[in-house]
Amino acid sequence: MTEKIAVIPGDGIGREVVPAAREVLETVDPDFEFVAGEAGDAVREQTGTALPDETRDLAASADATLFGAAGETAADVVIPLRRTVGAFANVRPVRAYPGVDALQPETDMVFVRENTQGVYAGHETDVAPGVRTLTRVITESASEEIARYAFEYAAERGLDVTIAHKANVMRRTDGLFLETAESVAGEFDVSYDDALMDALAMHLVQRPEDYDVVVCPNLAGDVLSDLAAGLVGGLGLLPSANVGHERGLFEPVHGSAPDIAGQGVANPSAMILSAALLLEYLGHDAAGERVRGAVEATLANGPHTPDLGGSATTQDVTEAVVERVESDEN
Ligand code: NAI
Ligand code: MG
Repeated sequence: MTEKIAVIPGDGIGREVVPAAREVLETVDPDFEFVAGEAGDAVREQTGTALPDETRDLAASADATLFGAAGETAADVVIPLRRTVGAFANVRPVRAYPGVDALQPETDMVFVRENTQGVYAGHETDVAPGVRTLTRVITESASEEIARYAFEYAAERGLDVTIAHKANVMRRTDGLFLETAESVAGEFDVSYDDALMDALAMHLVQRPEDYDVVVCPNLAGDVLSDLAAGLVGGLGLLPSANVGHERGLFEPVHGSAPDIAGQGVANPSAMILSAALLLEYLGHDAAGERVRGAVEATLANGPHTPDLGGSATTQDVTEAVVERVESDEN
């Protein structure tokens, strides 16, 4: 069955790394139909809107979307796109790779971040001059959904789970998050613990090897996953999946990198690893594994782009990954 993949490069290096990831997907070719869409700063300049209806419709009707990055308009593009695909989970694997300098070379963990509510639910109010409030929304249903996703993910891979929270202070909201996650944990044969998110931040830096799957409320997941990113050697390596029940949106953690855009030197690894997550989301596990293996071999043996200390171009790295994907064909 042909699957429809929306391809939205966006701005800056999105326009360089998305074609690279598409080339890799075409190499493994699981019968995808690619449909291209535009979003971001450049489109806003031309049309007045950063996310045209046609692009949103593409993501709404595609089985999965590959998104690069937007510039200043990122929030106007990414948040509505995540909503369009019904993404309840933001999944961010953070790994150190052989061949790449990392502060903590033993790091290998996955953040499963609640993607719809918490303090990002959008309820901010000006209550009086100089006084503003924010309502933090935690529901049992969203907490259950994210916890179930995290425990299923861990069970399938033989991993442990850590539930991040701050229920000693936010007793009602994180109390509900923790209580719900613990009750979901009871359904699985997965070992788990819970951790206060501030102490967890310290432990993640000191002993990242102690953690596998970390399930978090929205803001905590955003902050802790960026912290962990700092342990493994840079934004050019970090993919992410926005997972919905019927569709997904796959994007690197990095932005449009205007400082290096147009030079052809962006590291395509994060984007290609996002494409590997897309393949796995659609059930093409062997193809996803081949792509990830080819990126890992390229990180281990080169060529490397300048962010990793090399002098290769985006195209050089992409060609190396494509060759390794092809040579792994069986
Ligand atoms: P950024 O991620 O674009 O860049 C931060 C630094 O990392 C820069 O020095 C950049 O050159 C480097 N970098 C990032 N990705 C790289 C790659 N693949 N290869 C080599 N080096 C890489 O974040 P920054 O500078 O804070 O934001 C730039 C623009 O991107 C802003 O307009 C921001 O709004 C937007 N942005 C968009 C996001 C999205 O669309 N999801 C996410 C984050 C930022
Ligand atoms: Mg962030």
